[in-house]
Amino acid sequence: MTPAQGKLDLREGFDEAGAIKDDFRRAVLEGLGQRPKWIPCKYLYDARGSALFEEICKLDEYYPTRTELALLHRHSDEIASLVGPNANVIEFGSGSSRKIRILLDTFEKPAAYVSVDISREHLLQEAQRLAVDYDGLSVIPIHADYTQGLEFPASVFESPRVGFFPGSNIGNFAPADAFRFLQELSRSMGEKSGFLVGVDLKKDERILAAAYNDARGITAAFNTNLLVRINRELAGDFDLAGFVHEAPYNAEKGRIEMHLKSVRPQTVRVEGHRFAFAEGETIHTESSYKYAADEFQALAEDAGWRPVACWQDPNRLFSLHYLETA
Ligand code: AVI
Repeated sequence: MTPAQGKLDLREGFDEAGAIKDDFRRAVLEGLGQRPKWIPCKYLYDARGSALFEEICKLDEYYPTRTELALLHRHSDEIASLVGPNANVIEFGSGSSRKIRILLDTFEKPAAYVSVDISREHLLQEAQRLAVDYDGLSVIPIHADYTQGLEFPASVFESPRVGFFPGSNIGNFAPADAFRFLQELSRSMGEKSGFLVGVDLKKDERILAAAYNDARGITAAFNTNLLVRINRELAGDFDLAGFVHEAPYNAEKGRIEMHLKSVRPQTVRVEGHRFAFAEGETIHTESSYKYAADEFQALAEDAGWRPVACWQDPNRLFSLHYLETA
């Protein structure tokens, strides 16, 4: 007998398989040609980068994952009553499905789970598992880059919608881009939609420094893996011993910055293009913005969302916001 299960319906948001690789090539060649040099952080997540990020989430020093999980467990009933029955749940970045399962287990008869992710393999794997485990749930994985605009299938508008953006991924946008994302989201999700978003809080800089400079060097490996990826996919010749991981807190901008710092003057080739590095020059690979709860609420309000609830852990490490379209 076939076990009871939900329905899986894959949507492709990319015209051709090469779209992402071309983006990567363009971003690397452009970013290395600029001063300061930079590469958008979404390219940290190839298969190895995604696996290393999963390891980061288990580190003692990296408090966001376990703190957000505890907040979801503690407040899931309250969240479920705000969301109501038959919701279409839309997650941005499918991540590990541990968090979404807490919600799907508590929500009253969720109608559909829509996940939007840039990594096709990971997206499909998680979607398949959820379709097997949740009887009656319609699972719609959308293979797309949510930083490049949002369009949802028409069926999504047949019942109430709630967006889910955990993990403080919103902190990886610059505030102006976070504003644009929130504004575009309120437009594309439409009236009376909810949005549950995890946001890392401003805190003692020593806690932040430890979280992004862990003793086992997993975050360093995650950062350096970007050079491995460039060497493999774009015929690069980065000498891995010539660069070190750095992750300082920039208090003025309220963000942790990840950099790869050149330990000596050197020239690197990528697809035949030459890029010179001075000693100490860096490639800025990620910014991770931290927000006080009221700072984030003000940003969300400006972007068309009404703050409804904000939960924080007792140590004020992490926040979970529930917003509704105005
Ligand atoms: C995915 N993102 C929210 C993580 C962060 O904390 O900004 C990525 C990360 N970078 C280093 N450690 C974790």
